[in-house]
Amino acid sequence: MNTAPIRSICCIGAGYVGGPTMAVIADRCPEIQVKVVDLNEARIAAWNDPDLSCLPVYEPGLDAVVGRSRGRNLQFSTDVDRAIATADMVFISVNTPTKTKGLGAGQASDLRWVEACARQVAKCARGHTIVVEKSTLPVRTAEAVKAILEASQLAEAGEQKGPPPSFSVLSNPEFLAEGTAIADLEQPDRVLIGGEDAAAIEALAGIYQQWVPQERILRTNLWSSELSKLTANAFLAQRISSINSVAALCEATGADVREVALAIGTDRRIGSRFLQSGPGFGGSCFKKDILNLVYLCHHFGLPEVAEYWESVVHLNTWQQHRIASLVVRKLFGTVSGKRLAILGFAFKADTNDTREAPAIRIAGDLLEEGAQLAIHDPKVSAEQIARDLNLPASSAPDAEAGPTRAALSGEGTWWPAANITDAVRGADAVLILTEWSQYRQLDWSGIAALMRHPAWVFDARSVVDPATIRSAGLSLWRVGDAG
Ligand code: NAD
Ligand code: UGA
Repeated sequence: MNTAPIRSICCIGAGYVGGPTMAVIADRCPEIQVKVVDLNEARIAAWNDPDLSCLPVYEPGLDAVVGRSRGRNLQFSTDVDRAIATADMVFISVNTPTKTKGLGAGQASDLRWVEACARQVAKCARGHTIVVEKSTLPVRTAEAVKAILEASQLAEAGEQKGPPPSFSVLSNPEFLAEGTAIADLEQPDRVLIGGEDAAAIEALAGIYQQWVPQERILRTNLWSSELSKLTANAFLAQRISSINSVAALCEATGADVREVALAIGTDRRIGSRFLQSGPGFGGSCFKKDILNLVYLCHHFGLPEVAEYWESVVHLNTWQQHRIASLVVRKLFGTVSGKRLAILGFAFKADTNDTREAPAIRIAGDLLEEGAQLAIHDPKVSAEQIARDLNLPASSAPDAEAGPTRAALSGEGTWWPAANITDAVRGADAVLILTEWSQYRQLDWSGIAALMRHPAWVFDARSVVDPATIRSAGLSLWRVGDAG
C-alpha cells in the first residue's frame, strides 16, 4: 500500500474540465505541482497567454484563479510524456464524444482518446502512479484502463529493467456546470471517488480535503462512481425534458409554465432547480451521456430502460424543432427572405461553448426555410458559429435596401451582428435563445423602432417582461405561455 503524499499531478486534457479543475487544485494546494497537458498546441498557447482575457475557456472567475497559480505551481504544456513521467497522479480529462461510426455509432462513447491516454501513461509512468478517470465514461471503463496498464507492467517486468511501474485506477467524475465552474469546484455539493485501492482513494481525498468538507467526499466502488456520473446527468436532463413537455401543454391550455414550475418546485420532494423551460438542453454532455446510458442498457439486455431514457433526448430535439416551426407559423407561414435577429448562440449564459447549443438546430431549421439571420452572442466568435451552422457568414445586408439576390432565391444566410442594434435593424422578429444577462435589460421601444412591422419577439428563455414588449408594440411568444 503506497501512502506517500501527492507532490506532482499531471492532467491530460486542457479543456473545459481539465483547465478549470486543475487551476482550482493548484490554487488550493500550493505545495502540489500541477501540469496540464494537451496535444492541441493552440489551446496550450492560449492557456499560457499573458493576457488572461484570452484563455481558451470563458468562465467567470477563471482568470483570477489561473492568474494566482500559473507560473507558480500550475503549468500548461504540450510535453505529455514528461509530465506523465514526473507525476504521482495522472488525471485523464479528455473528450469522450458519441461514436459516429462503427459498433454503437450514435450512442456509445468514443473511447479512443481515453485509451490513447492509458497507453501513454503505461509507456511513460515511473514508479507508482495513481490514474484518475476524470472524463465521463461508460461503466466498467476502468477495467479496460487497468488491463492496458497491467499489460505494460508485465512487459516492463519481462524486459528486466528494474522494478516495473505500478498503478492504481480511480474514478473521480466531475460535476461542474459551465458558467459556474469555479463556484462548483470551490464549493462542490460532493466529490465522488470510486476505487478499490484504499490508499489511492485517501491520497486523492487528501487533495480535496484541502478545501472540501470531509462529509462531502463520497467513496464508492469504481462502477458506482462511473454509473453515478451518467445517472446524475440523465436525471438533470430528464427534469428539463419534463418541464419542456409541460410547456407545450401550457401553451395549448392557457397555463403558464413558470407558474407551474413554481408550484411544483416548492414541494421539497421535487425541488425548484432545473425546472426552467427553454429551447431544450444543450452542452457537450447531457445528450452524449444519456445516449451512452441507452447504449449500456441495450448492451445489458434492458431495452425498456433504454427506451425510457432515450425519450428524454427525443423530447429535447422535438422542442427545438417545435420552436423553429412555430416561428415560421407566426410569421405568416414563411420566413424566406425575412430578417430575423438571433440573440444568443452559446448553449447557456456565461460560457463561450456552443456544443449542442439549441441555437444550432433552431437557426439551422430557419436557414432551411430561407431566413436571413443576424446572430449576436457576447462570447461566441463568428468562426465558431460558421463551423456550427456549417455555413460561412455572409456580409450584413444594407438594412434600408430591399431583399438581396440570395434572399429572393430563398437561400438562407447569416451574418454576425456586432451589437444588438445591428442585429435588430430591419428584422421581422427577435429570437432570444441564450439567457445572457444583457438580454434582460433591453430598450424594447428603441428596438421596436428599428424593426419591420408587424414585428415579433420569441423569448425561449423567459428573460423579457411581457408588458414591456407589448407596450413597445411588439407581438410576443414566450415558451410555455399561451400569450
Ligand atoms: P474538451 O474537448 O474541452 O477537452 C478535452 C481535451 O483533451 C482537448 O483539448 C483535446 O485536445 C485533449 N486530448 C484528447 N486526447 C488527448 C491525448 N491523447 N493527449 C493529450 N490531450 C488530449 O472536453 P471537456 O469539455 O473538458 O470534457 C472532458 C471530459 O469531461 C468529457 O468526458 C466530458 O464528458 C467530461 N465532463 C465535461 C464537463 C463540461 O462541462 N464540459 C463537465 C463534467 C464532465
Ligand atoms: C451539466 C451538469 O449540470 C453538470 O453537473 C455536469 O457536470 C455537466 O453537465 C457535464 O457532465 O458536462 P452543463 O451542461 O455545463 O452542466 O450546464 P447546465 O447548467 O446543466 O445546463 C445544460 C443545459 O440545460 C443548458 O442548455 C441549459 O440552458 C439547460 N437548462 C438548464 C434548462 O433548459 N433548464 C434548466 O432549468 C437548467
